[in-house]
Amino acid sequence: MLSLKRIFLIMAITISGSLASAENYIPLVQPSKTGGLSIMETLWNRHSDREFSDKMLSNQDLSDLLFAASGINRVEDGKLTSPTALNKQEIDLYVFTKEGVFKYIPQGHRLQPVAEGDQRALVAGTPQFSQDFVLTAPVCLLTVANPQKFDQMSEMATMMAVTDAGIMSENICLFCAGRGLSVVPRATMDRDAISKLLNLPEEAIAVLNLPVGYPK
Ligand SMILES: Cc1cc2nc3c(=O)[nH]c(=O)nc-3n(C[C@H](O)[C@H](O)[C@H](O)COP(=O)(O)O)c2cc1C
Repeated sequence: MLSLKRIFLIMAITISGSLASAENYIPLVQPSKTGGLSIMETLWNRHSDREFSDKMLSNQDLSDLLFAASGINRVEDGKLTSPTALNKQEIDLYVFTKEGVFKYIPQGHRLQPVAEGDQRALVAGTPQFSQDFVLTAPVCLLTVANPQKFDQMSEMATMMAVTDAGIMSENICLFCAGRGLSVVPRATMDRDAISKLLNLPEEAIAVLNLPVGYPK
């Protein structure tokens, strides 16, 4: 698989050559079907960690992490590893790295580049309050809830969408506990700046972010 840095380089060349295409997806390796601790060992191991090695996740660990969060585990009807109310699948998952920001696309298990450069400071916090340990995590996941995907915008739609983002976050925490990765679920971030960067719809809510890496 190409490195994320090379992908952005290729994108820049392609766009400047007026050959821009919406199909600049990065394929992920196939997710594993085995491995990790047992469910009970995982639960005994679940905890928050705020220290990370700066080593990038392996292609396999990144693939498995995203599959655990929101991958398609029933190909016949496209349903996901994390449940959503009415199967609306209204949670988007973004991946912030040193190289750029990517959206996880469960269909085809791939990444779509959405922003260039290191944007992890927006995940760390605001100018008023920031947690700098986030900058040491090689991968920061971000769950974005889209309550507008329910038939009607309402308090109930918002409640379901935010709940679904929480469920996805717990999938991520349990995967990390079972695979020996460090993670912490976080509400702190610069929501306005992230919304602008990712061009989120007005109704979308950046719910939780999760810095992930190998233990220090
Ligand atoms: C909704 C939610 C928001 C959180 N926000 C933050 C945060 O902004 N920064 C942080 O360092 N930890 C954050 N945490 C992590 C909690 O502080 C942590 O889960 C709690 O102290 C319990 O520790 P444990 O996860 O090791 O059991 C958050 C956890 C949850 C569930």
